[in-house]
Amino acid sequence: MKHFLQETDFTPSEAAAVFLRAQEFKQGRGRPGPQPLAGQTWAMIFSKSSTRTRVSFEVGIHELGGNPLFLNKGDIQLGRGESVEDTAKVLSRFVHGLVVRTHAHSEVERLAAAGGIPVINALTDFLHPCQIYADAFTLAERWAAPGADLFASLRGRKLAFLGDTACNVASSWILGAARFGMKIALAGPEGFAPGAEIDALLAREGLAGGYRFTHDPFEAVRDADVVYTDVWVSMGKEEEAKARLAQMTPYAVTAKLFAAAKSDAYFMHCLPAYPGKEVTQEVLDNPRSIIFDQAENRLHVQKAILAALVAGR
Ligand code: CP
Repeated sequence: MKHFLQETDFTPSEAAAVFLRAQEFKQGRGRPGPQPLAGQTWAMIFSKSSTRTRVSFEVGIHELGGNPLFLNKGDIQLGRGESVEDTAKVLSRFVHGLVVRTHAHSEVERLAAAGGIPVINALTDFLHPCQIYADAFTLAERWAAPGADLFASLRGRKLAFLGDTACNVASSWILGAARFGMKIALAGPEGFAPGAEIDALLAREGLAGGYRFTHDPFEAVRDADVVYTDVWVSMGKEEEAKARLAQMTPYAVTAKLFAAAKSDAYFMHCLPAYPGKEVTQEVLDNPRSIIFDQAENRLHVQKAILAALVAGR
């Protein structure tokens, strides 16, 4: 049973195929296309708020011929203490796959282990792999020559991640950079170095030592092809808001900091953004800001991931 819980769940050649399929879905959108999910229902268990992830999965499953079934965790027995394992076993009798947004990463792993259907990680406190695959595809669209290998166009490129360098998107980009052959430098305040969990995962995957962490934002963006940031107060960290804002102000992506990257560098943000905090409105509006292409590509890339998992059953 094939799952997509982390970036390395696809080999480089499988990831390259996902990008190619995503490009086909994007170019063919609006015309009758393949329906690999025909007759299937995919449950979407969400424990956290979402705009992009929820809508792109619901639309994507529908466009592939399937039926998306949104389940707010608070409305099902899982939210009242039914075990993760029993939930996985029961849902496996009804539906053909699970898309899960939750807190503990172990929950998606337990659902995958106990059930008999594919599971997609739609964000945990640790990783957000659907976001990173869509981001990488968005870059490859720009860097690959027409007809050339999208995946190969990422190799050797440098991404700089600023701000909350211990968040799930940062950890996911560390793992994603290793999968895509990219370089990654992260700049954040004291206490926000990437943690033991991502280091242990990199070691298990044989990908250790692949990132650089610094407290100097200008050092991180030097020679960068991409400047990336995320909200400073992630879901679940609201009680730390005041302290985080004070610590992270030096890492805000301003026009001056963005200008210190390569002259053709792109700005990326997984959204939602808070202008005036982690990034200025000026940078968000820069012609090299590709934030809405990132958001759109969630749809095309997730459709390709769904199709790959169905084919791999
Ligand atoms: N980037 C992202 O996952 O957006 P949502 O929280 O709106 O799904």
